[in-house]
Amino acid sequence: MVIGVDVYEGKAKKIIPLDDDKVVMEFKDDATAFNGEKKAQFRGKGWLNAQISAHLFRVLEENGVKTHFIGVAGDNRLIVERLKMYPLEVVVRNVVAGSLKKRLPLEEGTRLPEPIIELYYKNDDLGDPMINQYHAKLLGISEAELKEMEMTALKVNDVLRKYFAERGIILVDFKLEFGKNARGEIVLGDEISPDTCRFWDAETKESLDKDVFRFDKGDLISAYERLYERITGEAPARR
Ligand code: TMP
Ligand code: ASP
Repeated sequence: MVIGVDVYEGKAKKIIPLDDDKVVMEFKDDATAFNGEKKAQFRGKGWLNAQISAHLFRVLEENGVKTHFIGVAGDNRLIVERLKMYPLEVVVRNVVAGSLKKRLPLEEGTRLPEPIIELYYKNDDLGDPMINQYHAKLLGISEAELKEMEMTALKVNDVLRKYFAERGIILVDFKLEFGKNARGEIVLGDEISPDTCRFWDAETKESLDKDVFRFDKGDLISAYERLYERITGEAPARR
């Protein structure tokens, strides 16, 4: 939904123009699931997701992945490079969970022999349908662009899977979004947070992500706080 001049408000974030090259990404406390069918608010979620995303974008940049992240601008806000977004969700999976169980007769928790990439067309009216490379081409995304996004998605997976494994967390699956910057480079955009990834405690297999909300598994904020603490080594400062 477009509000005001060109402030864009999505389900969990607001995008506020800053200048020609930068926008502010504001994380809200709202949570939705199942294409907006289930809704709630969690005080402190915006702060946690902004900080966790910032932390993970820094980890990726340190490992040579180009992201839109520029800096943190207050509690719930990041400054990011202005991108023209592809209408695509690129999902990477390491372990069977979520919608993969509905597609293939596989048991939850089974480790995949190699990562699986899935593409979804970002369109709320159609419920973000799964698409393939032919559909993507029809949407104006070239084979070369798609190849580059997929290679970057696998690199993100390599970096983050290892990073989380060292902290006792299994990176089950996650969703990425990409855009093009003013120089024509394909850059990782959006967020990387417990709203957009599945994280399981390696020992207990407890969810430390939005599945806590999707499937009523307990207290979302305490799950996100545990994740924050594991990756930053610090207790969350505020909520
Ligand atoms: P799925 O198993 O429901 O297809 O989700 C795969 C991953 O993508 C999971 O980590 C959650 C994330 N995801 C989003 O970030 N946004 C979405 O709209 C959906 C459906 C999934
Ligand atoms: N983010 C999507 C929605 O609101 C779906 C999900 O993450 O489960 O509706």
